[in-house]
Formats: sequence, C-alpha cells, structure tokens
Amino acid sequence: MRKKIVAGNWKMNKTFQEAEELISSVADRLDNEEINYEVVICPPALYLEMASDYAEESILQIAAQNVSGFENGAYTGEISASMLAEMEIAYCIVGHSERRKFFKETDDQLAEKVDRLLDYNVRPIFCVGEQLEEREVGSQFDVVRSQMVNGLFHLNKEEFSNIVVAYEPVWAIGTGIVATPDQAQEMHNFIRKLISEKYNPQIADATTILYGGSCNADNSTTLFSKKDVDGGLIGGASLKADEFVKIVMSVK
Ligand code: PGA
Repeated sequence: MRKKIVAGNWKMNKTFQEAEELISSVADRLDNEEINYEVVICPPALYLEMASDYAEESILQIAAQNVSGFENGAYTGEISASMLAEMEIAYCIVGHSERRKFFKETDDQLAEKVDRLLDYNVRPIFCVGEQLEEREVGSQFDVVRSQMVNGLFHLNKEEFSNIVVAYEPVWAIGTGIVATPDQAQEMHNFIRKLISEKYNPQIADATTILYGGSCNADNSTTLFSKKDVDGGLIGGASLKADEFVKIVMSVK
C-alpha cells in the first residue's frame, strides 16, 4: 500500500516565535492520535533546524521548501541538498508554481534539484499543475505530462520510487477555488497512468500523489476519499494548528 501524507507548506510566513508555537502546538495535538501515515511540516529555511528538533520528539517530519540544483560552493544565498540531509530533513518541495512563476525556475533546473536531493536521500515532493488558461483550452493533461516528463522521467526505477508527486492546479492555489474531488481524481489517475507507462504498474501504484490548492478542513475529507488522492499539500490552512490538525485527521 502506498503511503499517505499530509504536508503543511508554510511558505514565507511566521516569525520565529510564531513558528515555534505552531509546530509545538501541532505536535502536541497529534501526540495522542493513532496515525499510520506521514505528517510533514515545510517551514521557511531559517526555521528548519528548530523544526527538526521538534520533529525528533514527535510524529512530524520536516521538509524544506526549496534546494539548490548545485552541489556546494560559490553560490551565494543557496542551500544545498547535503546541508538539508545534515539537518535530517526528510523531504523537499521542488517545482512549486510560485517558484516556477516568481523565480523563473525551468524544467531543467527542477530536474537538477531532484537529482541533488536524491544524491543525499532527501525525498522530493515534486509539484505539477496547470494554469487557469491552460485548463480553459483543455490542455491541462499536456501541461502536466510535460512537467512530469521534463522534471522526473530521466530517473531510473529505483530513483523514481523516492518521489512524491503533488498535483497543484495553479488556479486553485491561495484562491479559495478548490478543484472538485472529481477533477482531482481525474488528474491523479492520469498522473498514475503516466508513471505506469514510463516505469511499471507496481511503481505507479506505490507512488504517493498529493492534492494541493485551497484544501481546507471543510473539503479535505471528500478530496482525500478519492481513490488516487493520497493526501494533501496544504498552504494557507496549515498556518493554524486547529485547522491543520483537522485536515491531518481527515485522512482515512
Ligand atoms: P493553498 O496553497 O493551500 O494556500 O492554496 C497550497 C500550496 O501552494 O501548496
């Protein structure tokens, strides 16, 4: 059975003190729950060490929001995969639409980031998703196919088995307009078929595919009940402990 995951992407939010309060509050609330899936927190890079200390005492795992595609060296401002590994960071988001849009990250750069992370056993959470105009003209499947092919399909089977995919339609991110459960299921099923064709049905079946985009405590139960939706990548709703914990607990 593939692993379910709920991950909270805090983006560039929270003071250090607020971040510490939020992570300890989430950890405390989940402490007594029976949870047989993964709960991941993705704080800003400066808070990774603090978050990683909390994670040690709890069920939480920690993810970075970004990584350099370079190894180590003269790359001012960057953080390497080896540094993340040293902090015992389990996952790293790659290719979030905000990084593709505001930082002009290209498919080739994303493929390099994936490679660096796998070199150091940090698991990429690789984001794909179409823009509104692309859905309006019916090209969402072509867009997602090309993101998968260009960012991930250079990997061999063994490497690919460390990948988590997140389908995040850009029009749903931070907008309050969530994909319908059927739209999410349709795309997740499409992504799983792509993986099956490229690798094999076993690998496709074992790949965790998360949904992201205006997922909250009111809609997570129906989204997560879909056959190919294996949890969520949660932005805004992960910034409040109560709501995030409700979303975590809505995984069946
Ligand atoms: P949102 O963001 O939940 O605020 O829409 C999701 C994401 O960007 O990962």
